[in-house]
Amino acid sequence: MVKVSTSLLSVNKDILIDSIKNLNETNTDFIHYDVMDGQFVNNTFFPNDEINIINKYVEKPLDVHLMVNDPTEYINFYKNLNPTYITIHYEIENYRKYINMIKENNIKVGISIKPNTLIEELYEILDEIDLVLIMSVEPGKGGQTFNEDSLIKIKKLRKYIDVNQLNTVIEVDGGINDITSKQCVSSGADILVCGSYITNSDDYQEQINKLR
Ligand code: DX5
Ligand code: ZN
Repeated sequence: MVKVSTSLLSVNKDILIDSIKNLNETNTDFIHYDVMDGQFVNNTFFPNDEINIINKYVEKPLDVHLMVNDPTEYINFYKNLNPTYITIHYEIENYRKYINMIKENNIKVGISIKPNTLIEELYEILDEIDLVLIMSVEPGKGGQTFNEDSLIKIKKLRKYIDVNQLNTVIEVDGGINDITSKQCVSSGADILVCGSYITNSDDYQEQINKLR
């Protein structure tokens, strides 16, 4: 069954801890932390001191999405939270250096591509990475509309992974709802990152059920 990684990006700060407690009661597979440096994307989000406060309440495995130009300090911070995945962006300089840094800490490594990056560019490094995060919106904010071109990327990547018998997992992020989730799953996605569709609702579990 497809896995669900719930993003906290669209949650009102005043109710963040209550939302986390509610998510602990659901069967979401991961909590997805969106980390932004104000450079790779315009927004800044989830400063480390805030994560230190809220992470105490999280009882789910972590899926960390670093939308930052220089991941060094973020990898050093997040490695202490024992995440399942740390994902960096393919579009940053020296991304290979950070793949190694994540692996050296025995954390699974993900590579994300923005909507304008071709999926084929990742083929030669797929055997080094655990997860590909296909952005189906421009990174930077929640609540945007799903870009259907990402379905073609998912299908191509699914085929490549299967033909070459790789273990890489396909994750998709941005504009996921009950309709786009079906399209992503039938195209071959393994994990759906979903923010506003879940967290803008009163019943998180019901929304997660609809996604699956
Ligand atoms: C966008 C983030 C996403 C975002 C998803 O930059 O990477 O994780 O929060 O939010 P929704 O599901 O609302 O598009
Ligand atoms: Zn994300």
